[in-house]
Amino acid sequence: MKAIVCTKYGLDALKLEEIPKPIPNDDEVLVRVLASSLNFASMIRIKGKPFIVRPMIGGFLKPKYNIPGGEIAGQVEAIGRSIKQFKLGDEVYGDTCNCGYGAFAEYVCAPENILALKPTNISFEEAAAVPQSALVALQGLRAGQIQKWKKVLIYGASGGIGTFAVQIAKSYGAEVTGVCSTKNLEMIKALGADKVIDYTKEDFTKNGQYYDLILAIRGYRSIYDYHRALSPMGVYVMVGGSLAQIFQSASLGPQVFKNGSKKIGKFTYTPNQKDFVFMKELIEAGKVKPVVDKCYPLSEVGKALLYYSKGHARGKIFITVEHDKNLKREK
Ligand SMILES: NC(=O)c1ccc[n+]([C@@H]2O[C@H](COP(=O)([O-])OP(=O)(O)OC[C@H]3O[C@@H](n4cnc5c(N)ncnc54)[C@H](OP(=O)(O)O)[C@@H]3O)[C@@H](O)[C@H]2O)c1
Repeated sequence: MKAIVCTKYGLDALKLEEIPKPIPNDDEVLVRVLASSLNFASMIRIKGKPFIVRPMIGGFLKPKYNIPGGEIAGQVEAIGRSIKQFKLGDEVYGDTCNCGYGAFAEYVCAPENILALKPTNISFEEAAAVPQSALVALQGLRAGQIQKWKKVLIYGASGGIGTFAVQIAKSYGAEVTGVCSTKNLEMIKALGADKVIDYTKEDFTKNGQYYDLILAIRGYRSIYDYHRALSPMGVYVMVGGSLAQIFQSASLGPQVFKNGSKKIGKFTYTPNQKDFVFMKELIEAGKVKPVVDKCYPLSEVGKALLYYSKGHARGKIFITVEHDKNLKREK
């Protein structure tokens, strides 16, 4: 099969190679990958930068996993003996980030608990956008105690996670404000945001508005800014952002939030079938639709990551996996 292989860190080290097709263990499903998508975790595992993340990603001198890529959408090609939930030909989606990666390839093996049936009303490419980005948004909003009527601010609303966060928060009945740059204001409104703030023109901490939940995904505002913009019982949830933001939130957060009733909501993204099914239902109900930015073939993962790493994607970036149509599928 064809796969993107990285044996050294760096986008230049990525190579499209012909390698043996994996064979599923008894407790694994072999998925014929039709699409994947990019996310931050895949990017740092390929780049190995910033250097300080290397101990956390388990590969100090070279990547821990040779085939990168986490999010997948495709068809069940083969199943191990103890697989109960899926059968050959099922259309599935999921995230292999906790079971060895390998999504940037024609086939990948995965345990059934990180897969679910794909939403029926979207393409494989759109489905590949969902697993990690939508679940990070969902789990982050839950950590911030998302509820109907709550005033929610999504900082970094126009990217992969943000576009899901806006729609998921609306599906809960929250009043949503999205923060993004000028060119994305209309898109965020079209996704259902009640208000949009252009961060190049307006400072959300100085407009007299207070929020019950702030989900900070991208960019950098200090922990004091977020604290100031919260309503008295408000919750701040840091999903990501610049390194400075991450360190500041981790080091000063407990101190800044020590007194008073404002809180920091904590969560660690965990791919799980229950939440994939939850997202499938939201998508099939028409409440959430993945936002497509650009699409690249498997051979151009490096080019796609270069675009993603600039930090201004409009929704998700997809990787399509073309299979040789002359090859018969195994039964
Ligand atoms: N906590 C977890 O478990 C977890 C899991 C996965 C990912 N993450 C984090 O999520 C982040 C990546 O999210 P993503 O994939 O959604 O990113 P992304 O797709 O690259 O986000 C791009 C968006 O960020 C916006 N942005 C860039 N600079 C900004 C600024 N200065 N102020 C406000 N918005 C800005 C851009 O908006 P404009 O183009 O409009 O400027 C763009 O639309 C990373 O920091 C990663 O660590 C966390």
